[in-house]
Amino acid sequence: SGLTPLQKHMKQNLGGARFRLINERLYKSDSAEAVEMMKKDPKVFQEYHDGFRHQVQSWPSNPVSHYIDELSKYPPKTVIVDLGCGEAALAKALHPKNFNVLSFDLLSDKTFVVEADICSRLPLPGSEPSSVERTEGEGQIVDIVVCALSLMSTNWLGCIREAWRILRPGGELKIAEVASRFTAVEDFAALVRDVGFKLKKKDDRNTHFTLFQFKKVARATIPEQEWSALLSRGGVLKPCEYKRR
Ligand SMILES: C[S@@+](CC[C@H](N)C(=O)[O-])C[C@H]1O[C@@H](n2cnc3c(N)ncnc32)[C@H](O)[C@@H]1O
Repeated sequence: SGLTPLQKHMKQNLGGARFRLINERLYKSDSAEAVEMMKKDPKVFQEYHDGFRHQVQSWPSNPVSHYIDELSKYPPKTVIVDLGCGEAALAKALHPKNFNVLSFDLLSDKTFVVEADICSRLPLPGSEPSSVERTEGEGQIVDIVVCALSLMSTNWLGCIREAWRILRPGGELKIAEVASRFTAVEDFAALVRDVGFKLKKKDDRNTHFTLFQFKKVARATIPEQEWSALLSRGGVLKPCEYKRR
């Protein structure tokens, strides 16, 4: 690229600093602020992902490769929703294998990614219960929701609630999060459970991230006040701080 080794090194350091700054802002903002941040300067998204890709390369393995292997074994035509898909690696790998993958993130690449705030209203069908009677809602078409390291906004529980709304009865929610983010894994699982999920599997064998598999179960409507109380427990996931490398 015409740069001397020293210039290359300096460019990399600057990129790393930008990445850590954007990363910190994403973890400390609610999703409306994150949307605003990307709208103001779409370059931010690219800068973040250049840094994130670099970061992931130093890990022994990453959640997306794990999910590509795991989901490849599902029946073709399974409808998978990838919330906070980043560069849509999951869709790019599974689309050729005849899976239906719908990918959402803050910014669209105009090919694989649909632009949406995953913690707010997703443009997909599905209803919530409207009374104290326990149901699973109606109208859903989604079999599996994947959240791979994407519960970044302070109101991330909104993403779990949207996952519940769009999943078919009994549908699966797969979550991967950075291991160091948990105050207590049980508190995290309990909070997700309170939105209408049952924990089926937890895998913390990986040194860098923890994997969860939840199943959607029936629940009653969530009154406004109860929702505020649930949201206020969001601190069970701490911001993820990447070290300077
Ligand atoms: C750490 S990256 C992981 C990307 C991808 N899932 C992977 O594992 O390679 C997290 C992604 O979640 C997205 N994200 C975080 N909060 C979001 C929100 N409120 N709405 C949409 N996307 C969000 C970020 O833009 C980012 O692309």
